[in-house]
Amino acid sequence: MSLDANASERAEAALRLLASRHSVGPKHLGEPAPSDEHLRQAFAAALRAPDHGKLIPFRFVVVRDDGLERLAELFVDYGRRCGKSEEELALERTRAKQAPVVIAVVARPNPMHEVPLHEQWMAVGGALTNVLNALHFMGFGAKMLSGRRAADAKIAAAFCGAGEQLVGWISAGTARVPPRARGTDNADAIASKF
Ligand SMILES: Cc1cc2nc3c(=O)[nH]c(=O)nc-3n(C[C@H](O)[C@H](O)[C@H](O)COP(=O)(O)O)c2cc1C
Repeated sequence: MSLDANASERAEAALRLLASRHSVGPKHLGEPAPSDEHLRQAFAAALRAPDHGKLIPFRFVVVRDDGLERLAELFVDYGRRCGKSEEELALERTRAKQAPVVIAVVARPNPMHEVPLHEQWMAVGGALTNVLNALHFMGFGAKMLSGRRAADAKIAAAFCGAGEQLVGWISAGTARVPPRARGTDNADAIASKF
């Protein structure tokens, strides 16, 4: 099937946009934040990720306003348990509240299902990637971060139920910095013929 000229232009524009996605760290994100409607569209995109068995082994928890305050308390508590200084605890608070919206990514792989666990995890990766791409398409900056806090049992318990795992958080907002200059990606280096 060949594309007519308009469809071909649209495809090229979409691919250019996709290829221009890059992460924007939380400290460079500000208002306006993506609205609940923007996020609904991003989560709809997550549901278009390839997902063997349609198990939907993921869900998202939106953190904004008071939720950011609660996240900050969790990070400060984490810092205290790590023996951090008052100055470092203030940084923990700042870290949680840098971006105007944070989206916790929760995985819920089912080990009893015949679809192998690694495939379920790939669906989680596809889903969060679609969220990042959708946010970029809507003009927002975002970055996926995990780190030690996401692996902390007490922080994870605030987001997860039984059998669930906290992957980390997508920080989102409007980029306050110009797009990062990127090197040229070499697609040939990751492809070969069989
Ligand atoms: C599940 C997941 C967790 C991540 N956790 C971190 C992290 O904790 N710290 C970090 O610097 N990058 C982390 N990254 C990578 C960044 O989100 C980002 O992709 C990377 O810095 C490359 O930048 P780019 O997206 O602009 O290519 C993570 C990515 C994924 C998919």
